[in-house]
Amino acid sequence: MSRITSFNLYLLLCTIFTNTFCQGIIINVTSFRVRADGKTDDTRAFIAAWEKVCNSQGNVTLLIPKGTYLVGPLKLRGPCENVSSLTVLIKGYLKAKTDLSEYEFGSGWIEFAWINGLTLTGGGVFDGQGATAWPFNNCPTSSNCDLLPTNLKFVGMNRTVVDDITSLNSKFFHLALVECRDFNGSRLEISAPEDSPNTDGIHLERSSNVSFSWSNIGTGDDCISVGQGNSQITITNITCGPGHGISVGSLGKYPHEQDVNGLLVRNCTISGTSNGIRIKTWADSPGRSSATNMKFENIVMKHVRNPIIIDQAYCPFHSCSSQAPSRVRLSNIYFKNIRGTSLSQVAVTLSCSKGIPCKNIFLQNVHLNLISGERLPVSSCENVEARYFGIQMPPPCP
Ligand SMILES: *[C@@H]1O[C@H](CO)[C@@H](O)[C@H](O)[C@H]1NC(C)=O
Ligand SMILES: *[C@@H]1O[C@H](CO)[C@@H](O)[C@H](O)[C@H]1NC(C)=O
Ligand SMILES: *[C@@H]1O[C@H](CO)[C@@H](O)[C@H](O)[C@H]1NC(C)=O
Ligand SMILES: *[C@@H]1O[C@H](CO)[C@@H](O)[C@H](O)[C@H]1NC(C)=O
Ligand SMILES: *[C@@H]1O[C@H](CO)[C@@H](O)[C@H](O)[C@H]1NC(C)=O
Ligand SMILES: *[C@@H]1O[C@H](CO)[C@@H](O)[C@H](O)[C@H]1NC(C)=O
Ligand SMILES: *[C@@H]1O[C@H](CO)[C@@H](O)[C@H](O)[C@H]1NC(C)=O
Ligand SMILES: *[C@@H]1O[C@H](CO)[C@@H](O)[C@H](O)[C@H]1NC(C)=O
Repeated sequence: MSRITSFNLYLLLCTIFTNTFCQGIIINVTSFRVRADGKTDDTRAFIAAWEKVCNSQGNVTLLIPKGTYLVGPLKLRGPCENVSSLTVLIKGYLKAKTDLSEYEFGSGWIEFAWINGLTLTGGGVFDGQGATAWPFNNCPTSSNCDLLPTNLKFVGMNRTVVDDITSLNSKFFHLALVECRDFNGSRLEISAPEDSPNTDGIHLERSSNVSFSWSNIGTGDDCISVGQGNSQITITNITCGPGHGISVGSLGKYPHEQDVNGLLVRNCTISGTSNGIRIKTWADSPGRSSATNMKFENIVMKHVRNPIIIDQAYCPFHSCSSQAPSRVRLSNIYFKNIRGTSLSQVAVTLSCSKGIPCKNIFLQNVHLNLISGERLPVSSCENVEARYFGIQMPPPCP
């Protein structure tokens, strides 16, 4: 029996025998006057249901049954003092309101904060209805832009499980984690058009012990972006594309950024993206930090423009006034068993800071071909001493 079917049985038994059998309560959002017609605003019903949930005792399940619910911004915040575990079981389709004036800049459409032991599951859909918002996103051209709402934002959460959830057409990032610990995401379907701006699949910041697995992510920006201050991050069996690939960074834009330490990306397939694995740090910026102990293993690249790229002169707005080198220290980075096809002839770019050269960069069994077999791919290196093992295509830098 799959987990979800057994959960259905559990729900059924809980409904019949109530608390004595299942050691927990179920709060059904339909008890709070939802319309679930996809047109009437159901935000108040969700807020009322959350208040009930958070003020409950013991193990609590918030059930969102099948149906389409139109909702505006929701702040689902703890601490929920007497709740020991909290499950949000979503089977329905949540549609975000499109009026941007209802949202705070930089917040989430649905924001979970300061909760311990949340499980979010059930196969439901979070549809950000981003198409009308994307024209108002000025982030691609301005470094000081107003951030549109992220579909699902998790802030200061401990012990979170997110499993079997779909996120569509977010106005901005799809999932973002800020200061979370012990987070496990799996079986996620994340999708937005290739030309939608800043619709990163998953963004991580200042979080630790986070794993994502068994998911499909195709958007207009990074598949997964690992920002500053993260440690113990594991990404396995993810397919990415379209979009910008898996990235570390951008790092070093602001002063006082924290280090990245411990990233494992394994068994992933990256298709039709502009980059495969990218590590990017800002040139001409104050941030002094380090990013270390990162391993990228068993990665298949299909028609990727820049399959492996370290770029320490990142400056997307052409606004860098001086040519000051990046102050971010990169070290202990392993690329192992990376194969597939590259669209650009420079299949491996290791462009490190001339102020702080990269240290301990290892490439083992890298086999990247060009689509047309007429030319050979090449490597490009600056301020780096890479060490090579096994097969190398492109050939190492001289
Ligand atoms: C939740 O409410 C819906 C609609 O009223 C109902 O169909 C469903 O059986 C309820 N589920 C539980 C577990 O109470
Ligand atoms: C939690 O339980 C304690 C003891 O029963 C009670 O005093 C307190 O009001 C409860 N808190 C909430 C938020 O329900
Ligand atoms: C919560 O559920 C767990 C099993 O998942 C059980 O061991 C525990 O006793 C329950 N707690 C309460 C307060 O019902
Ligand atoms: C999460 O865990 C950290 C470290 O134990 C703790 O400081 C923080 O208060 C916890 N957060 C919540 C919401 O309980
Ligand atoms: C990391 O998180 C998982 C749950 O996702 C937990 O089982 C494990 O104990 C955590 N590990 C550490 C070292 O905290
Ligand atoms: C995360 O969840 C997946 C799927 O349920 C599971 O296979 C994996 O062991 C979990 N990882 C951790 C660290 O708990
Ligand atoms: C990888 O994830 C996909 C779903 O995205 C799943 O169908 C497949 O079985 C997983 N493969 C492995 C080896 O876990
Ligand atoms: C990765 O894939 C390899 C070979 O396909 C398999 O042996 C290994 O168990 C996988 N590892 C994980 C963590 O999925």
